Amino acid sequence: SDDHDHHDGDEHELRVSKIRSGTVIDHVRGGQALNVLAILGIDGSEGEEVSVGMNVPSDRLARKDIVKVEGRELSQDEVDVLSLIAPDATINIVRDYEVIEKHRVEPPEIVEGVLSCPNAGCITTSGEPVDSRFEVLEEGVRCDYCGTIVRDEIAALIDT
Ligand code: CTP
Ligand code: ZN
Repeated sequence: SDDHDHHDGDEHELRVSKIRSGTVIDHVRGGQALNVLAILGIDGSEGEEVSVGMNVPSDRLARKDIVKVEGRELSQDEVDVLSLIAPDATINIVRDYEVIEKHRVEPPEIVEGVLSCPNAGCITTSGEPVDSRFEVLEEGVRCDYCGTIVRDEIAALIDT
């Protein structure tokens, strides 16, 4: 595990403690942890039990972020949006301290109703009862209605 197998040889150090039951979002691109929390709608105000590691050493990525959420599983919509900002992420479901399920995120072809178009003139943002719909591109997303392409600021489009 690159969470505890550090290159400095200290195998005894676990930077972020294990959780009992919930979800570990691992191998998040360094610097994206706060966006992960935004996608999950977590700001701490509801008493959520969450641990975050930022820019910790990793084997697979040069540096990774990690988010551990106690007592919660993620919806497919949440995982779909996560995949846009953390394409290498692993979702680990933990029960009784054991990882009982692990899967890589996979970018969907379409994300519907979870991102809001930054174009004020877009039909999806003009008060009409039209759900947003974005096509997922190699690098970014494209509004199906107005064609606006967003590359770097996808997290800012998240409806919360
Ligand atoms: N984890 C946790 N609490 C637990 C069990 C696991 O926080 N009760 C974390 C581990 O610290 C690790 C991640 O969940 O960051 C995945 O755990 P595990 O599959 O045991 O680690 P690895 O084998 O290193 O996973 P991978 O191969 O995906 O890197
Ligand atoms: Zn649009």
